[in-house]
Formats: sequence, C-alpha cells, structure tokens
Amino acid sequence: MLEDTSFAIRPLEKNEEQEGFQSFGNVQNGTERKQYFSFTCERGSGKICFYRDDVVRIVLNPFGEASMSSSPAVVKTPEKVEMHVEETEKEWVLETKKLKVIVHRAPFLVSIYDQQGNALVRDAKPALFDHKGKIACFHEMTEVDHIYGLGEKTGFLNKRGGKWTMWNTDVYAPHNPETDPLYQAHPYFMVLRNGRAHGVFFDNTFKTTFDFRSNSVYSFAADGGQLDYYVFAGPHPKDVLEQYTDLTGRMPLPPKWAIGYHQSRYSYETEQEVRELANTFIEKGIPLDAIYLDIHYMDEYRVFTFDRRRFPNPKEMIGELKEAGIRVVPIVDPGVKVDAEYAIYREGVERQYFCKYIEGNVYFGEVWPGKSSFPDFINKKVRKWWGEKHSFYTDLGIEGIWNDMNEPSVFNETKTMDEQVVHDDDGKLKTHRELHNIYGLMMCEATYKGMKKLLNGKRPFLLTRSGFSGIQRYAAVWTGDNRSFWEHLELSLPMCMNLGLSGVAFCGADVGGFAHDSNGELLARWTQVGAFIPYFRNHCAIGFARQEPWAFGEQYEPIIKQYIELRYQWLPHLYSLFAEAHQTGTPVMRPLLMEYPNDERTWNISDQFMIGHNVIIAPILRPNTTHRVVYLPKGTWVDYWSGEVLEGEKYHLIEAPLEKLPIYIKQGSMIVLGEPKRSTAIPDERLTLHVYKLNEGEATYTIYDDDGLTFAYEKGEYVRQHVHAIFKADEIHLQMETEGTYRPTWKLHVAVWGANEQTKVMINGKQTSFDEKTNTFIISS
Ligand code: GLC
Repeated sequence: MLEDTSFAIRPLEKNEEQEGFQSFGNVQNGTERKQYFSFTCERGSGKICFYRDDVVRIVLNPFGEASMSSSPAVVKTPEKVEMHVEETEKEWVLETKKLKVIVHRAPFLVSIYDQQGNALVRDAKPALFDHKGKIACFHEMTEVDHIYGLGEKTGFLNKRGGKWTMWNTDVYAPHNPETDPLYQAHPYFMVLRNGRAHGVFFDNTFKTTFDFRSNSVYSFAADGGQLDYYVFAGPHPKDVLEQYTDLTGRMPLPPKWAIGYHQSRYSYETEQEVRELANTFIEKGIPLDAIYLDIHYMDEYRVFTFDRRRFPNPKEMIGELKEAGIRVVPIVDPGVKVDAEYAIYREGVERQYFCKYIEGNVYFGEVWPGKSSFPDFINKKVRKWWGEKHSFYTDLGIEGIWNDMNEPSVFNETKTMDEQVVHDDDGKLKTHRELHNIYGLMMCEATYKGMKKLLNGKRPFLLTRSGFSGIQRYAAVWTGDNRSFWEHLELSLPMCMNLGLSGVAFCGADVGGFAHDSNGELLARWTQVGAFIPYFRNHCAIGFARQEPWAFGEQYEPIIKQYIELRYQWLPHLYSLFAEAHQTGTPVMRPLLMEYPNDERTWNISDQFMIGHNVIIAPILRPNTTHRVVYLPKGTWVDYWSGEVLEGEKYHLIEAPLEKLPIYIKQGSMIVLGEPKRSTAIPDERLTLHVYKLNEGEATYTIYDDDGLTFAYEKGEYVRQHVHAIFKADEIHLQMETEGTYRPTWKLHVAVWGANEQTKVMINGKQTSFDEKTNTFIISS
C-alpha cells in the first residue's frame, strides 16, 4: 500500500505516458461508399458514416480494416442520409444537410463543422496508438467550453479541469471529488460552447479516460479496441440528448409505482420486520409504494431463494402488501454461491454458463455468499437462462428487481474479476479486460427482458448500480454507497444531473445517505430533495442509525411526511416528464443550462435544478442553515409556497426554515398536480392544472397519463392533454386538445395564480365559472 503514502508522488525519470505512440500518418486513398466514406492511412484505416444528418460516426483501426460493429450501447442502424463528397488535393469534404466533415490528408486529421460554419470537433493533433493497442485522440477545446455528462461522476456539474476514467468499480468509501471511477461507465460528454451544444460518444468498452485538464485541448483514450466515436450536432442541449438517446435508446415508461416513495434498509431481515414496517407507514399515513429486501432475505445469500426461517411465507406477505399498495423489490446480485447442491450453481456449471478462463476452468471470486461463480451475461443463451430464472420472483408476485454488485464487484485487491477471464460473445471469446464495463449492462438486459416476458404485459421495474451507455433502456440507476454527509447530499445533485445529461433520466441517490449515521435535519433536507429527484428511495446500511421517516422523532417526522406527500401531489407533473424523457431523451431533472443555454450564469450551477422547463428547486444543503442564494433566469418566478413574485436574471437571498424547500415556478407557465395519496395504487380522481398567470404571453404544457402499469401505452392507450394558454391583462384563454385513447380516472380542474376577480378564464372559447368549494375552475368533460 505504498501508493497511499507520499511515495505516490515520487519524482519520475521521464514522462512515460506518450512513449512508444505513433500516428496514423497520411491518408493514402479514400473512397465514397453507399452510406459511408472509407480510407486507408499509412498505418491503419478508417470509416466515416452518417447515422442521420446530424450524427456522424468516425472509426479508426490502427491494425486492420475499420469495423462497423458496435458495442451493445448502440441500438440504431444508420438512416438513409444524403452525403455529398468533394475531393481536393488537400482534403475530402463530406457533407449532409446538418454537418460538414473535413478529412485532411497529410497528416490525417478530422474536423467537423455544423452547416452554419461552427467548428464542433477538430483534431488538435493526429490521433495516436501504441503497439499494445492503446489509442487516443486530441480535440481542440476553446476557452468557453463547458463539459457535462460522463455519467456518474463526483464533483461539480461542469467536468472541465478533470481527468475521468471509465472502469466500473465498487467504491464503498470514500466518494470524494477525486474518487473516480465509480460504478457506471458512460464514455459520453456534451460540450456547451457559447450557448450551442454538441455531444461526443466514444463507443469503446475497454477502460477509457477523458482528459479535460488542459486549456486548449481535450483528449480521450482507451486501453484497446478501435477509436470509434460519434459526434452529435446539437445545437440545443435537448437536441444533443435526442440524438444521443436515438443512438443508445431511451427509458421505457416505468410503472407508476416505481416513481413513488420507496423504503429500503440493508436489511429488513424478517417477514415480521417487513410487515411491521409497512404497518407503521400505514398507521402514520405516510405514503409508500415499495419496500426493498436486501441480501438477508436469501438462504445464505443464494440468489433465487428465500430464507424460510426469516421469511416463512413470502408469497402471502408480498400479496398482502400489494393489496395495501406496497410492492416488494428483492436484491439480485450476479455472484452465484458455489454449492454442488444448489440448483442455480449446478445448472450454471452443467451448461457452462459461468465466466471462465480460456483453459476452461470456472472463475471464482469472493462476494456475499462466499466463494462464487459469475454468469457470463455477455452470452445470449446465458441471458435468456438468467431472465427465465426470475419466474421464481414473479411467481411470488414480485414486479421489481434490484441488481447490485454487477460491476462485477469481487472482494479482492482489484475489486473485480480477473481481466484474463474470457467471455463468450456469442461465439467470439473476448477478455474481461475488454468487456468489463458492459457486464452490468448485460446483466440488466437479461433481468429486464426476462421480467418483461414473465410479467405478461405489465411493466417491470429494475434498479441497477452498474451500467454502461444505454443502461436507460433497462434500468433506473442509483448512485451506490453514499454516506450520511451533507457533502453527499450536495454531491448527489450534479451527479444525478450529469446522469440525466448522459441519457439516464431515471436516477437518484440513497436518501438520508447509505453508510454513516444520519440525523433528523439531514434526513428532512434530503427527503425534500428526494421528493423531486426522479428515483426516490431512502436506503441505509447495516450497523448505522435507522432512518425511516419517523426515526428522528416528532420534530422531523411531520416535515419528512409532508415532503413524501408532496412527491405524490407532484406525480402527475413528474409522470408527464417521464413520458417526455421516454419520447425525446430530455431528462426529468435538468440543470438550468438545459433550459437557458445562452445564460452563462447557468453554466456552473450545481446546487439548483429544474423539474421540467419551468420549475426550479433550490434546496438547502448545509446544516443549521436557513438561507441561501438562488439564481433565477430570465422571466419572473413565483415562490410556490408564498406566491411572492421574484424577478429573473438576478441572484436572490432567500429564506428557507427547515420545513421549506425553495420551489419556484415560472410566471406564464403551467404544472399539473394531484391530491396527496397513500400509494400510486389509488387512482386520481382530480388533477389540477395550476396556471401561473402573466399579463401578456403564451405557454404550452402537456399532461400525460396512462394506466401506469402495462405496455398498452405503446398501442395508443394513453392520453396527452395539450394545453395552449394565452395570457392577457384580464383574460386567460386555455385551448385544450386531447390525443390518445386512454380514458383517465381524473377530472381536470384549473387553478389560476396571479389572477384577480376581473380575470376571465376561457376554456376552449367558453367562459368558465369559478367553483368556490375547490377554489378552481372545473372543466366539464
Ligand atoms: C452494496 C450496495 C448496497 C447494499 C449492500 C448490501 O453495498 O451498494 O446498496 O445495501 O451492498 O446488499
């Protein structure tokens, strides 16, 4: 462990980093093919392919022909794109309606522009590789560039100034600004340059690094494989997300219960404890949609088993809880206990489904069950087998699974599987060194697809710790083993915002903090944040203070309860945003720059976020603190609690006693809220469209709803209630248009904020009268 001392910073003889590297040299010839441009260099070869007018892929192979196969992150095949090629002595110019790619011959360099002439990506110097297969490229970075994305990283929102590694790692502690990598690998980033955005995805499953430390150049590099990257033209941050998630896939709509409040602990150890927990929620009237079963539910940590002493009748328990509107979500880790009498292990060995060395001997590693073997999820047959095994859970009435330890985590020096292990990629043997980063993704694919099949039309919910680009197609992501520190509450904001900017709209951090002892104030403030984060689960580690909503006494319990209830009131707005993320890739939780990319004061805001395009959340992130500064962008903003109107493009010092989470709604916009309820299992009878009036202007809003449970929405069984509002001094016109075949359970009311007695409210051209009882205008259906 010498590296933990000052030895780590001993003087080195010379810079070894770029020794032995060489470039591709000059381009020797280039050919226009049907959908792509192909070329050979003095060393290696390349291909350039447009996937759409605004998405281009660059592939360079130093050792042979550039291969157009992709990692499992990519689900799109190239669209038919008109590509215009022009050849000159110096270069080739490849153009589509949106992009212009210049291939410089001597030396080989690539520059990519949009059709307005803005440089997006330009090689600052030739790409390099070494004889071991390491590969790197270097792009120009301007002074104003801000870097976002990169998945799950510590530190502030803007990733410029750092060097980041993608190598999925189980890090129990610490999670500091310098802790890197963590559990997820997203070799993807977005550059914001003077209000215009573009994206870069490096599709390489080896260990990769992204270096944004220099002032004028950034680089990305891999330990092996091709230099294979995509550039997304933007120019709006939302366009970049649309383009990136078109390539890597989008989140299916989660079941509504998955976005309610969830309670977890490592572990609720017995059936009795779980029932008591549920009863306490019910007695106290605190809403709850799911309870998690951590590793203690299993028979000596054997996956696909229950410990029958602790849980004598899981089916009954699960059924009764479901009746009460509470789902049960068990943990399923990849490690399969070595035990010749255990069916899963036996089958895995007999069918040769476990990860092996090339010589054929199974790889064993130590995890919770002790000596364990690991299914080779890279293989299709193994995924199918594993997926089908989940009938064990679905037969008991389970609809959600929690995949953990899937980096894969192994209790040894390297924290993971031996890199020399080989995976059977449907016939091709590839080392763990190459595929480590996609092990978790493939486990989730197996689990999600298996569950989906078994649930017969119902939507499964899957939570994962590890993943790679594209993980949003299968699972929600939580940020692993954080701690009950205020710093970790603060850290969770930029971490989740950057996950959202990396295509993972459904994400969250353990509310209250996982390890270490939480306290009432921290849990209250964290629950306020959690209520507005896409994934909302309170989870806590073994051996630390309990942190259920009531754990810290009467001073805090009502506040915590109030914010869990608020979550349920806000679910219709949140669910509409989930539907938007599912359709377009725009995240539910957004950094301010996503809505205000031209306002440079938004570019570095890590401690505020937006829920949709018109709501700003500015939580308190420090103990004994009741004030903070809030930046409000262009427009005027209404304090959700007091109705006070605050001016935009200004910093405000605001007050927030413990019971207040600062929430601001943009004037001249709308949100839809429901009534507080105990569980998403209870249908909404009434939704209220809250209209924040402006004296002059227009706004649009879409309420989305469906049955919240099945895939019928894919067949048109949803409702999209489009609202177009026109604001005048003493009139509001609301034009409503409905799309889809779903008949909602609710009646829509309209509440107007900032109106007076003279204000006329016209709905679809008819003046609507005010209902004194509900303080709203009721829309008759
Ligand atoms: C890992 C997970 C944590 C879980 C624990 C026991 O540390 O990150 O959430 O509670 O394992 O399963």
